[in-house]
Amino acid sequence: MFKKFDPGVSPLAATQAEPLSEIPRYLTDTYWWAYIHPRAVRFFDRMLAVNLILFGNYRRLRNAVLAALPSRITGKTLQIACVYGDFTRTLTSDLAPGATLDVVDVVPIQLDNLRRKLPAAAPVTLYWRDSAALGFESAIYDQAVVFFLLHEQPEAVRKQTLAEVLRVVKPGGRVVVVDYHRPHWLNPLRVFMKPLLFRLEPFALDLWKRDISHWLPHEAAGSRLYKTTFFGGLYQRIVIDL
Ligand SMILES: C[S@@+](CC[C@H](N)C(=O)[O-])C[C@H]1O[C@@H](n2cnc3c(N)ncnc32)[C@H](O)[C@@H]1O
Repeated sequence: MFKKFDPGVSPLAATQAEPLSEIPRYLTDTYWWAYIHPRAVRFFDRMLAVNLILFGNYRRLRNAVLAALPSRITGKTLQIACVYGDFTRTLTSDLAPGATLDVVDVVPIQLDNLRRKLPAAAPVTLYWRDSAALGFESAIYDQAVVFFLLHEQPEAVRKQTLAEVLRVVKPGGRVVVVDYHRPHWLNPLRVFMKPLLFRLEPFALDLWKRDISHWLPHEAAGSRLYKTTFFGGLYQRIVIDL
């Protein structure tokens, strides 16, 4: 294990974002080894690592997000939180001419890392923001994607993140969420994953106990929600049409 690391402030990310004073405690306490330590970024941000973590399902789940969006994505898209691997680059390659992608993350080193992975001319703007307080105007995005973020957040933050995502997407727009889900009782990974998540990702088992709709704001009551599960129920995609 790495020694705990003081994240500091990255000059690159700081020039492209509103100043944020601190990284949430749940990240520095629970996920410093995955997202904050520079060696973590080098270690995890490779296809082999992300595929091992997702039992070979990385491309399938990434493509499940893309399949819920038009094949040529138009308008303004918001990605909540950076993702290791080629997620953002692939999303960017589906943008129609004139379309844009904004990505927010609360950890500067993650934004720096993503910037390095994108072509210089990509129509992508990176924002150093907290998903629970986006600070964008309401109803400005045509679609938003949230890939494996909700399971990392304590319940109150998860609820606030969903409220913020739904606030910034236009009526008629779409939100696509991919995350963990309670596996089918016959899924052999159930026995292995439960203690692993309990130990390493303490908030993740919330998604085994409840549907994501449980954390949606009241304003989402009129929205249509479609759920698809993958890999014996261990993963889910939720599409919310506002
Ligand atoms: C999308 S999640 C997990 C993705 C998945 N494990 C992967 O990379 O393949 C990881 C990202 O979420 C970011 N993150 C966590 N809490 C956040 C918050 N409150 N606001 C914005 N970004 C956040 C972390 O900094 C990290 O870059």
